Amino acid sequence: MPNAITMLKADHTTLKRILRELDATTERATKQRQSLAAEFEREIKMHAQIEEEVFYPAFKAATRGTEAEDMFYEAAEEHHIVDMVVPALKAANPKSHEFGAKAKVLKELVEHHVKEEETEMFAHARKVFSDEQLRELGELMQARKDSLIEMWDNPMLRPVKKLQSVAHKFLPTKVKTAKAAAIAKSPAISKIVDQDEAR
Ligand SMILES: [Fe+2]
Ligand SMILES: [Fe+2]
Repeated sequence: MPNAITMLKADHTTLKRILRELDATTERATKQRQSLAAEFEREIKMHAQIEEEVFYPAFKAATRGTEAEDMFYEAAEEHHIVDMVVPALKAANPKSHEFGAKAKVLKELVEHHVKEEETEMFAHARKVFSDEQLRELGELMQARKDSLIEMWDNPMLRPVKKLQSVAHKFLPTKVKTAKAAAIAKSPAISKIVDQDEAR
């Protein structure tokens, strides 16, 4: 059974690797820039989605009313910024200096976010979740990721994915956090995380 934290950390390694490669490219490597940007988009979308749909709601529910809940809100805001930079990078001309600048900013953003998740949020998650709960969350995340991979790999579903991305970009963080709270109440999450209403 996959452990939620191990799974997310493995994704982080991939994301950082792609951004390092992208940052090392020059204006001459247009094809490589485009393919790395596309690879990054696919990986970050799937990663952000399993965090936003499983891990974050569970974390929010488990830390509700405590100081640690702020880690959730901060992480959600950072996701929002990444959501805006990724389409801007994809729209930029790979021959331009702006493309290189956007790639660099994105790399710094993601490195900062990943570091905070690993050193603060995940560290705290190990305290509030048992090993069993982390495995159960990991299992839910893996199932979600499998269906997302299928969606990305199916050309018929690509237009749907594109529409969802556009909609997602304009979704205010307030809506996303409300969504996280609603997901936390879903049977899949509430089965794993005990949520005491009185807290
Ligand atoms: Fe994240
Ligand atoms: Fe992450």
